[in-house]
Amino acid sequence: MGRERTIWNWYGGMPVQAVEWFGTQREFLRLITTTLALRQGDRVVDLGCGGGLHLPALREAVGPHGHVLGLDFSPRMAAKAAARAAAWENVEVRQADMTTVELEPEAWDGALASFSISATRDVAGAVANIHRALRPGGRLFAPDMHLVARGLGAPVTAAFGLVYRLLAGWTGVDVLETVRARFGSAEVVNRSGVPLATLPSFAPVLMITATKRPGHQP
Ligand SMILES: C[S@@+](CC[C@H](N)C(=O)[O-])C[C@H]1O[C@@H](n2cnc3c(N)ncnc32)[C@H](O)[C@@H]1O
Repeated sequence: MGRERTIWNWYGGMPVQAVEWFGTQREFLRLITTTLALRQGDRVVDLGCGGGLHLPALREAVGPHGHVLGLDFSPRMAAKAAARAAAWENVEVRQADMTTVELEPEAWDGALASFSISATRDVAGAVANIHRALRPGGRLFAPDMHLVARGLGAPVTAAFGLVYRLLAGWTGVDVLETVRARFGSAEVVNRSGVPLATLPSFAPVLMITATKRPGHQP
């Protein structure tokens, strides 16, 4: 097991995970499903799904005739997510690397990547894989770390970045710019889902959205 996978797997074995409080807030769950514009019968993939916190909300949004796929490369995380999803036939969990997994191309209406793209060793590969999997018009929602040190908050952001790099092998690649490059455009939304005209100077977390444009060649 690589270093990052070992670390996430260790984290997956902890009884309570720090992201659980944030990740299950009703406001955040609503933001996920509205930003992805999920409808009953849709197919949605949760990449780097961790312990599967968001699978119930995704399942509710797509209903009994939709399909939810959760992926995580940590065996422990994937096992937790599978246990959480056990009650639903149309929620599948796979242990897989989101940078290399072969998803059916242009077959997914929505992709959630919650704090996971920045956690990969290959940010561009992860984003390319998501773009390939989405159908034209399909949407990505990627709340994630944005540890680009600038403005007055630069020292704090740099310190966060160092910790993330040491603990989980963060590569320093800018997720927002990578999504923009692959999708042709991307937006950052606030907690109500409203696009921001400009980024605040201190923004260690960004909620990124992008839509796969029909015919767009990256
Ligand atoms: C910060 S956690 C976020 C978990 C979950 N999405 C959430 O919001 O609660 C990052 C997750 O990404 C997973 N991860 C990191 N790199 C990955 C990769 N290359 N393929 C699949 N999963 C990955 C980790 O195992 C971990 O569960």
